[in-house]
Amino acid sequence: MDNRPALPPEIARRRTFAIISHPDAGKTTLTEKFLLFGGAIQMAGQVRAKGEARRTRSDFMKMEQDRGISVSASAMSFEYDGHRFNLVDTPGHSDFSEDTYRTLTAVDAAIMVIDGAKGVESQTRKLFEVCRLRDLPILTFCNKMDRESRDTFEIIDEIQENLAIDVAPASWPIGMGREFIGAYDLLNDRLEIMDRADRNKVAESVKISGLDDPKLADHIPPAQLEKLREEVEMARELLPAFDRKSFLEGHLTPIWFGSAINSFGVRELMNGIREYGPEPQPQMAEARQIAPEEEPVTGFVFKVQANMDPKHRDRVAFVRLASGHFERGMKLTHVRSKKPMAVSNPVLFLAADRELADEAWAGDIIGIPNHGQLRIGDALTEGEGLRFTGIPSFAPELLQSVRSGDPMKAKHLEKALMQFAEEGAAKVFKPMIGSGFIVGVVGALQFEVLASRIELEYGIPVRFEASQFTSARWVHGPRDKVDAFSNVNKQHMANDHDGDLVYLTRLQWDIDRVTRDHPDLTLSATKEMM
Ligand code: G4P
Repeated sequence: MDNRPALPPEIARRRTFAIISHPDAGKTTLTEKFLLFGGAIQMAGQVRAKGEARRTRSDFMKMEQDRGISVSASAMSFEYDGHRFNLVDTPGHSDFSEDTYRTLTAVDAAIMVIDGAKGVESQTRKLFEVCRLRDLPILTFCNKMDRESRDTFEIIDEIQENLAIDVAPASWPIGMGREFIGAYDLLNDRLEIMDRADRNKVAESVKISGLDDPKLADHIPPAQLEKLREEVEMARELLPAFDRKSFLEGHLTPIWFGSAINSFGVRELMNGIREYGPEPQPQMAEARQIAPEEEPVTGFVFKVQANMDPKHRDRVAFVRLASGHFERGMKLTHVRSKKPMAVSNPVLFLAADRELADEAWAGDIIGIPNHGQLRIGDALTEGEGLRFTGIPSFAPELLQSVRSGDPMKAKHLEKALMQFAEEGAAKVFKPMIGSGFIVGVVGALQFEVLASRIELEYGIPVRFEASQFTSARWVHGPRDKVDAFSNVNKQHMANDHDGDLVYLTRLQWDIDRVTRDHPDLTLSATKEMM
């Protein structure tokens, strides 16, 4: 990355990232403080308040609220200190990991939030592994230091051991729980003091010449000051120092200690992203990499969301711009259909509202309202027949058949299922024999979400029932062999929503047998969504 040419300033100032965490660690609170300091909202609490208002409009959203999970990912853009931050929200619940995986293909870095009392939790680890697959640089925020937390060294050790990544302290906490005063900023030699009286106020920041500076004694009681000096000395001896190259390669994570609810440590973290966070990175495509500074506009769809606005039955395709300078009204080529597409009403997601985007640059996320033409994995270009890679679709882990409570609405049900398949919310398989559909998901909760959405958005009551199959594999191979195989295994065959052939079974033994008996065929648990 070091020997790449400098990016145009408009691109270089962009930071596109996601926040990953275990539920309850403080992702929502941190997001809200980002928006507050980014000037995108006036007052903390607005994101939730807005959320509440939105949720009352739909039971589906209500379900998110009841269960304390966020089902849908969205993107938010705001300005911070001369930089454009694009924050892509990831669904936190493990049932939506495929969605999360695809969301992470659209960002250049991730912030990992952990709870200071709980350390690395199961979902943190899973999400971290996904980031690692893509070598994403990770910044760590250890939250809730205003509560009784674990010992600082212990937390750092746990991250290093558990996630096999070096941890470099960017700040060092002073006390914890009720004794928490603030933190020493190791990167800039500043003392940050938390204001407990006003949760939205930025910490008082005192420039210090080093840990021997007598000014420290004005702010920190002697016992705590001594402990701070000892700990920092030990940390400097035992832990790696921050190294940007190592961070950008995904080998080292800087960690900040703070309290999101008290706005503490948030600015330092934001400054960290601004200062050290990666610029928009090249994107992988078949045959070549797409560099952000290339002039022609290119981008790929990483998420499709339907019915974001109940007034309009539209879908919004979330597009990560991989290169170029996009202007509203541009005619782009929709590579899959080879058709031109005038992008006349793209939207930028500014905190609470959708706003028309007049322009956007490589690294930005724009939303393109459409009627279903745009699917996950689709490429938009100025003519080049590009295929972006690395946006996989995973074989579902749970299969159920779907029954409509209203047999007259079979066509509508099919339409609803196809929509969810195109959104990537579920896999839908049409068996070669018999009628009806089999729906595949990664986590059981998705069936409930689907049933609730089908009823809400299409007015069809449905039931999901056990299916005779439990596994699905995409079948690849020479045409004649695939045809011969599917002819004699019709009772196991189905097509997915793209028409691709799938082998359904309930036995791993079957999959092993097919693999053994048909060396020309591959049964695959993933397919690229293009
Ligand atoms: P999530 O999105 O990661 O699930 O977490 P969220 O921000 O919703 O935070 C989970 C809970 O932790 C919330 O409390 C939130 O107020 C609290 N929290 C967040 N940051 C801090 C912090 O720095 N210190 C302390 N002490 N608590 C923090 P809740 O009771 O579930 O919700 P609420 O009633 O406060 O909204």
